[in-house]
Order: sequence, then structure tokens, then C-alpha cells
Amino acid sequence: MAVRKIVRLGHPALRSRSEAVTPEELASASLQELIDDLLATVVEAEGVGLAAPQVGVKLQIFVYESEPQTEGEPGRYEAVINPSVEPESEELEYDWEGCLSIPDLRGLVPRHPEVRLFGLDRHGAPIDRLLTGFTARVVQHEFDHLHGVIYLDRMRDLHSLTYEDEFEALLDEAEQAGESSAVG
Ligand code: NI
Repeated sequence: MAVRKIVRLGHPALRSRSEAVTPEELASASLQELIDDLLATVVEAEGVGLAAPQVGVKLQIFVYESEPQTEGEPGRYEAVINPSVEPESEELEYDWEGCLSIPDLRGLVPRHPEVRLFGLDRHGAPIDRLLTGFTARVVQHEFDHLHGVIYLDRMRDLHSLTYEDEFEALLDEAEQAGESSAVG
């Protein structure tokens, strides 16, 4: 297990469509190692999600925090291979997002508050989960990475785009220090 370098905006993998993973590839040692590395890398970066293109690999794989951390307990992460994400309704909610490949910035992004996540787990077993709120937002963000889309593309306008330290000052002012943004 190794922490890999997270590529930043400008790297072509972030603007490419990723390839689906074949069953043979999924069973291979190199792909299982990639999944281990994605898990190690997202934990090291203190992110809530990470997609393979963010380490320069154009394959349809992401990891996300499936069980958020609680006091004293680290979060749990799940890998999803060849995912699809279906919104449960047309509804959209705005909340803050950031991206490990676009350091230090945050912006308000509309996302569906409830989605169904389909795909395969790392052993090839089907995944079918109904996700809401913060976790639904994270998987929409990571899914976009597999199609060359970044959260800046999803912003309706750029007026809320802010540096993280300014954002934290804003939150302090509003006495919402308990809130944080989804960074993946
Ligand atoms: Ni991201």
C-alpha cells in the first residue's frame, strides 16, 4: 500500500473519460494494488473521496467515505468500480465543495440530495446503495471525475468561489464552525 501523488488541474487525466474496468483487470494484482493505494492516498490527504484519474489513472474507479468518521473512530471508505449514479429526483441542493486536485478553493455546487449508486465492489460483487446528503454529494463529485468533469464545471456561477482560509473565516463569522465542505 502506497500513497500516490494526487495530480492537479492541468493534468490531462482530469479532463479525460476513464475506461471501464474488465473483470480480468479487476482480479489482477496491479488493480487491487491501485485500489489499496487510492484508499491510502485519500486517508493521507484527509479527503472524503478520490477518483483514479486524480492519481493519473484513467480507469472507472473511485473511493469514497461510506461511513463518516465519528469522535475517536476513523471514517470507513469503500471502493466502487464502473459506477453509475442515478438521481432519485430532479431536486438540487447547494453546498460547499472542494477538490484535492484543485487545492485550497471552495465553491457552492448544486447536487442531487438523493442518488442511487450502482457499480462493483473490489471483489466484483454488485453495489446498489441509496445515498443521501453529504455522501450523495461526494459520489456525484467522484463520478464526475471519471468523465473529465470537475466541480467548477457544475457551479452555476463563480461568485461563491473562495479560498479555504477565507471560507473558514466566513463560517466562523456565521458561527457555523461545525460545518465543513466535501473535498474529494
Ligand atoms: Ni475532486
